[in-house]
Amino acid sequence: MNSFGRLFRVSLFGESHGPIVGILVDGCPAGIEIGAEDFAADLDRRKGGRPGTTSRVEPDEPRLMSGVHRGRTTGAPLLIYFENRDVRSEDYRESDSKPRPGHADFAAFRKYGGFQDGRGGGHFSGRLTAGIVAAGVVAKKIIRPVEIRSEIISCGGSADIEAAVSAAAAERDSVGGVVECLARDVPAGLGEPFFDSVESVLGHLVFSIPGIKGIEFGDGFRGAASRGSEFNDAILDASGRTRTNHAGGLNGGLTNGNDLLFRVAVRPTPTIGREQETIDLGTGRPSVIASGGRHDACIALRLPVIL
Ligand SMILES: Cc1cc2nc3c(=O)[nH]c(=O)nc-3n(C[C@H](O)[C@H](O)[C@H](O)COP(=O)(O)O)c2cc1C
Repeated sequence: MNSFGRLFRVSLFGESHGPIVGILVDGCPAGIEIGAEDFAADLDRRKGGRPGTTSRVEPDEPRLMSGVHRGRTTGAPLLIYFENRDVRSEDYRESDSKPRPGHADFAAFRKYGGFQDGRGGGHFSGRLTAGIVAAGVVAKKIIRPVEIRSEIISCGGSADIEAAVSAAAAERDSVGGVVECLARDVPAGLGEPFFDSVESVLGHLVFSIPGIKGIEFGDGFRGAASRGSEFNDAILDASGRTRTNHAGGLNGGLTNGNDLLFRVAVRPTPTIGREQETIDLGTGRPSVIASGGRHDACIALRLPVIL
């Protein structure tokens, strides 16, 4: 479904080439100072237009339609939306009948019987993450002093991100990447085992972002190759501070007071300029598709602020 959360509940709506995309935030405490200018820096980090990202550039002006009065939240649901202006739906006519391999086109066609809005990926588009970033701006004000940082750490398996992206783009191809996210000053004891362990809830949210194919907390998969004597984080004082952080700040599904750390695997963008095999849904016969439209060569470049 399109809603997530209990205390701070977000509902996401819109389509890539519809009139708007946005988010409804319920449970936001009253009295938080907020204005359109608070969103600018994070929305700018998410934007396309830079090397390796789509040339679609939206103004991304947040419209705060309810839940704010005299520059402060009122405690009522907060509705934030963005207009879609830089739209070129004609680029997607071919994928209406020829599903792009790796994208949601085919699965959505089967699920919605052809009634889905396929323009620009419709409701499956990365464009929807503008709303996620907007909710994050609000959430970050509430969780202070907790601070969140995230950055792309590799691309196509290489730390030379620029080179990996430009090599892929030059060959009309795309490339995946790894993004690391760290939360500082997280109090110990957050999380509700079993089913609302911190890993479960964060995993649920993170996998909602289109294009994410894996998550690891702390050492993650590397931990499976190590021994307990190496993996266990020695506890240094009564605050729970540990010498190392192989566990990523989590034990038993609870925060342990150290930095919360996770990494995500971001797939290569499905839409590429090269010919790929698909079928023609009209005839049921094999066909090929190559995108002449706009797309991100590397989705991971835009992911940090969304995480
Ligand atoms: C910020 C962002 C930008 C994206 N840009 C594109 C794009 O330009 N072209 C594309 O085919 N997919 C893009 N995607 C990925 C698709 O939305 C995603 O691959 C698709 O919905 C299929 O879902 P899946 O990869 O999770 O299986 C983007 C995703 C995000 C988060």
